[in-house]
Amino acid sequence: MQQERIAVVPGSFDPITKGHMDIIRRAQTLFDKVIVLVVINALKNPCFSVQERVELIRDSIQGIDGVEVDSYDGLLVDYVRDAGACAIVKGLRAVSDFEYEFQMALINKELYNKVETVFLTTSAENQYLSSNVVKQIASFGGDIHQFVPEEVHDRIVHRLDKTRQ
Ligand code: PNS
Repeated sequence: MQQERIAVVPGSFDPITKGHMDIIRRAQTLFDKVIVLVVINALKNPCFSVQERVELIRDSIQGIDGVEVDSYDGLLVDYVRDAGACAIVKGLRAVSDFEYEFQMALINKELYNKVETVFLTTSAENQYLSSNVVKQIASFGGDIHQFVPEEVHDRIVHRLDKTRQ
């Protein structure tokens, strides 16, 4: 019997955006199972707690078959190995993403040579989109409807909109 092909889509997801959802949906068409993994990025100081980020993702992926969410505080490849995953899937927006992602892919391969990193080019309409852009717009009371999953829009606004507090 053929082995289940599992992919991990790691990230900070602080918070999840429609750009992330696009990558998750497309990864789901390529693999039997996709694990969206909230991982601690030591270079970032997140706005949302890990628990909040997991809950926002859980509600956003509801109804998408073969996709689940988890969190991890450690080396990504250790999680990948333990989960029996064969791939790490990342979205690439622009050339500016490439250098960092390329380095990560090489390091992860060095640490665990059974894993492949698969880059999906972000859809054209999401090229400019990032969690940071969402946080900035929402914090000044701007409209983020077109940037975040509908299911979690209100919760994200409630947490970020300083003009309401
Ligand atoms: O959404 P992000 O912040 O670009 O995601 C980056 C992330 C969390 C995937 C990356 O920082 C990561 O893999 N962190 C876990 C620690 C790790 O395994 N680092 C790679 C070796 S230095």
